[in-house]
Amino acid sequence: MTSTAQPTFSHDLVGIGFGPSNIAMAIGLRERRERAATDSGVPALTAIFHERQQEFGWHRGMLLAGATMQVSFLKDLVTTRNPASDFSFLAYLHAVGRLHDFINHKTLFPLRAEFHDYLAWCAERVSDQVRYGSEVIAVEPVRDDTGRVCQLDVLARGTDGAVHRSRGRNLLFAPGLTPRLPDGTRLTERVWHSEYLLHRLEALAPAEKPRGFVVVGSGQSAAEAADHLYRRFPQARVHAVFARYGYSPSDDTPFANRIFDPAAVDDFFNAPAEVKAEIMGYHRNTNYSVVDPELIDSLYRDVYQDKVNGVERLRLHNTSRVAGVDERRDGVTVTVEHLSSGKQTPIEADYLVYATGYRAADPRDLLGDLAEHIISDTEGRPAVERDYRLATSDEITCGIYLQGGGTEHTHGVSSSLLSNAAVRAGEIIDAVSARTTAAATAR
Ligand code: FDA
Ligand code: NAP
Repeated sequence: MTSTAQPTFSHDLVGIGFGPSNIAMAIGLRERRERAATDSGVPALTAIFHERQQEFGWHRGMLLAGATMQVSFLKDLVTTRNPASDFSFLAYLHAVGRLHDFINHKTLFPLRAEFHDYLAWCAERVSDQVRYGSEVIAVEPVRDDTGRVCQLDVLARGTDGAVHRSRGRNLLFAPGLTPRLPDGTRLTERVWHSEYLLHRLEALAPAEKPRGFVVVGSGQSAAEAADHLYRRFPQARVHAVFARYGYSPSDDTPFANRIFDPAAVDDFFNAPAEVKAEIMGYHRNTNYSVVDPELIDSLYRDVYQDKVNGVERLRLHNTSRVAGVDERRDGVTVTVEHLSSGKQTPIEADYLVYATGYRAADPRDLLGDLAEHIISDTEGRPAVERDYRLATSDEITCGIYLQGGGTEHTHGVSSSLLSNAAVRAGEIIDAVSARTTAAATAR
């Protein structure tokens, strides 16, 4: 490991990632510091966040024209924690002069592009707390006189290759989701993951007119990718390949939506393992492998109109899987197997897009030898306390907090989403504040 200078300052919190989860934290910390200025009982916590991107970006490769949010704008980075915050989506609309236009629009679901702009507006206003172009590559222990780990050093590589060390009394993981691919699949010039769709399309030569795409999967990303490619390349055929019989709607009905409420986090957290599995089974279709019903209708309209016009530009290969991929310099042959008949059909395409979802990043990957002090559950996943602190052996006395999909097994289906980001940030800040105050009292 590159040696780096010892830090002269120790932060209350060092954050990994500066996506919506940690931006919500940075805003909560800033509001806490404003309160601390007038209330001596409130600790003003210091924090520094590391973000590997050069600037703020929220799944930019999927910022497709016309794509809308999958959650109400009221579940922005602050409102459910502090409805009076001036970091709300409404405060943003007011600041950019679109509040009345938005009201007249009568929607709860803004464009993703607009929400991206809102998130960037928030990130900019708390940018004093973040280092962009700073990729965390390791975490090292700092031990006290008794040999126990009381602080952590976060080692981050900057764009110039230099490694910088920042020290914290608490670590705040929010590294987001990692694209998931079928076993053995490698991304290439012709084989993509939907996460990078727009980046790959932007890299095409201006004169290139692709004739065919294969999109694998039947979740929101797959449906949006198929729709985008179909509209953007009128000369191209788009093949959608998935195991289901048809795209299935996401359950966005009000009773089921309660699964995303803060109260549901308590219910889920306190439930025995078998009840947790049942809840996830019943309500998986609020989020996974499902598509916004309006988009399903729109795709069906396209398929039907093609039929009327005697063309088949959007071709659905349902109950099917990819059985083979043969990539050449000028294209890719994707062998699609129909699961009920076993029949295999080769499809000639220019590009293959895997819209096969994501997995949560595992915080232990960055913890090196420290990972052995993280307590695991019976399935080998990190045990997480209600306040999002990783359960550790007594060897570690500082706090390691986890946000995002990595807590889905303990805190439920809302973990990877925006729904609870605001409330969760408040809960973590309360937990760190209480521990900081207790430590100061004990000294
Ligand atoms: P997120 O992934 O956003 O951010 C993590 C950040 O950490 C990234 O910026 C990454 O660069 C950085 N990072 C990772 N490792 C690092 C390291 N080692 N060092 C430094 N930085 C590092 N949810 C929802 O509720 N409503 C919605 O409408 C949508 N829409 C949506 C669209 C698409 C296309 C996807 C893929 C996902 C969604 N989601 C969603 C779910 C999505 O997970 C959620 O909106 C947030 O992105 C979660 O925010 P996080 O900050 O936890 O992760
Ligand atoms: P997803 O919901 O997990 O769907 C993944 C799809 O890939 C499923 O159809 C799955 O099939 C299939 N799949 C997984 N592994 C496979 C394999 N090895 N071989 C073949 N198929 C495989 O992922 P997503 O669509 O990317 O959605 C993830 C999250 O992003 C969701 O929260 C979603 O709401 C969000 N999102 C939001 C927007 C938006 O805001 N507009 C846009 C895109 C995504 P099975 O069904 O058979 O498992």
